[in-house]
Amino acid sequence: MAAQDRNFILLLGAPGAGKGTQAQILQEKLGLPHIATGDLFRYNLSNKTELGLLAKSYMDSGALVPDDVTIKMVADRLTREDCARGAIFDGFPRNLQQAVALEDLLADFGGLDVVVMFTVDDDVVVERISGRRSCRNCGAVYHDSFNPPKQPNVCDVCGNELYQRDDDKPETVKSRLYVYYKQTSPLIGYYFAKGLLEEINAVQPVAAVTADVFKVLSAHGILVAP
Ligand code: AP5
Repeated sequence: MAAQDRNFILLLGAPGAGKGTQAQILQEKLGLPHIATGDLFRYNLSNKTELGLLAKSYMDSGALVPDDVTIKMVADRLTREDCARGAIFDGFPRNLQQAVALEDLLADFGGLDVVVMFTVDDDVVVERISGRRSCRNCGAVYHDSFNPPKQPNVCDVCGNELYQRDDDKPETVKSRLYVYYKQTSPLIGYYFAKGLLEEINAVQPVAAVTADVFKVLSAHGILVAP
């Protein structure tokens, strides 16, 4: 398959910026898989795998899971057939080492097409994360006030019970933000220098953020059906 037949999109931004929410919408619209390292770790944890238990010891404190483990997990995920046309990355890469590793992984496929940066203030992050409810079964994400499920605590998509993530406690959110500024935010300059960065104001209603993301994708030749 020619490189231009594939689209690799990266969603970058602080915890709670809305990356997962938009990735779910894009996944449906573009028919590309959503590769979210946090979801992959949580999936492993709920299945009590060795990888899941290892990841939990880092996630509980808001720290990053070691690069070798994370990069191998993403490399394995990219070998699956559903990535033949590309993928939407959410939460990976999270530091420069991971960014370089991703470049190597995508070297034969034309590399990343665009990096969409979600800009939000810290107080918005805290408000969003404190009201977030997630589905353990299908991963759908809701918010008590901004995006409530039709029935309280029940997933609209699959009917399973919703829960609050362990790492959404206020003290862990503080550490996650610290880790974001220290380790992940240097990627903003890194991708800007490569001409891939597109900034979006993520402090808007979900539909307005989606509309801005679609505009960016269209400008990069990634077609979004009306
Ligand atoms: P991860 O699961 O990736 O968490 P995160 O990056 O901190 O991002 P979040 O999932 O918290 O937020 P989001 O931006 O997806 O926002 P969402 O759409 O849910 O990582 C968790 C942990 O795993 C890390 O701390 C680390 O330990 C480990 N890990 C993961 N990747 C790793 C890696 N590459 N390397 C090493 N370790 C790694 O939205 C948040 C809330 O806001 C929701 O309630 C939603 O309904 C609401 N909302 C969304 N958009 C809007 C809007 N426009 N208006 C109002 N409300 C909105």
